[in-house]
Amino acid sequence: MKAILVTGATGNVGRPLVALLAAAGARVRAVTRNPAAAQFPGGVEVAGSATDGLRGASAVFLNSRALGDELASVVDAARREGVTRLVALSAINADDDFARQPSRFRGDRNKEVEQYAIDSGLEWVSLRPTVFASNFFGMWAPQIRAGDVVSGPYACASTAPIVDSDISAVAAAALLTDDLVDQRIPLTGPQAFTNAQLVDVIGGVLGRPLRYRELPADLVRRRFIHIGFPAEFADAYMGLLEATLTKPALVTHDAEKILGRPPQSFGDAIAANRGLLTN
Ligand SMILES: NC(=O)c1ccc[n+]([C@@H]2O[C@H](COP(=O)([O-])OP(=O)(O)OC[C@H]3O[C@@H](n4cnc5c(N)ncnc54)[C@H](OP(=O)(O)O)[C@@H]3O)[C@@H](O)[C@H]2O)c1
Repeated sequence: MKAILVTGATGNVGRPLVALLAAAGARVRAVTRNPAAAQFPGGVEVAGSATDGLRGASAVFLNSRALGDELASVVDAARREGVTRLVALSAINADDDFARQPSRFRGDRNKEVEQYAIDSGLEWVSLRPTVFASNFFGMWAPQIRAGDVVSGPYACASTAPIVDSDISAVAAAALLTDDLVDQRIPLTGPQAFTNAQLVDVIGGVLGRPLRYRELPADLVRRRFIHIGFPAEFADAYMGLLEATLTKPALVTHDAEKILGRPPQSFGDAIAANRGLLTN
């Protein structure tokens, strides 16, 4: 059996994907810079780089953050090595003005990863998720552990967060079946929420009176820069949120159609990660 190579394999999408592929009986080769600490399921092969892992692979899951400057060369090498399918982890906003894509300023290449996959001449699938539910743990967990107020910009900014492992489940379908070949797939969670509503959901799951306190946009922007983010990142992030103030975020139904079940809700993600939000 040929291997499926997963880049970004210890990450938000990659780790559940490795587990799903292994559980489905696939031969999985996972890429990590730190194999000793990776703790993948039994039987999963480990590669220290994508290039090292390509030989004998039939399909590759491409995470541009993990691939960095290797992205283009790995796609070229995949073709030479006889890989037949590329599944790209892109983003719902990949076609937007780059100045409104904050992740570009931390090196992510969500536009290019999709385009390289399409231009490769191989079978391709591009997953275009919206904001991951895990983002909110990173942003808000320290405040929620410390008290009942979550401070941030734009209480009315709207998102429809998707639970990370649902992206992984769609990726597994893209790698294991022929159903999604040559498609760009926009993936969202089942419901749009404002920031204030997301905090209400968290409070409801935790049984606590949490509330969102809106901070002035300029203060948040200056704080980003103060803690080391580039000004372009701060501007892109604030611009992205500001653009959602007047209409609810897009909700798509692709995940439900592909998975044959409703996507997990934001509340499900909170319940599953309660430990991150409590002392
Ligand atoms: N978060 C969102 O809301 C969102 C929404 C849409 C699209 N996306 C896109 O999804 C991708 C990120 O996916 P993810 O969250 O699953 O990735 P992740 O968890 O941040 O990273 C995946 C793995 O890549 C490796 N890695 C991380 N940073 C690296 C770096 N600078 N250089 C080399 N390796 C690095 C790490 O593995 P090792 O340490 O084991 O090597 C990490 O576990 C990005 O392209 C992002 O723009 C994110």
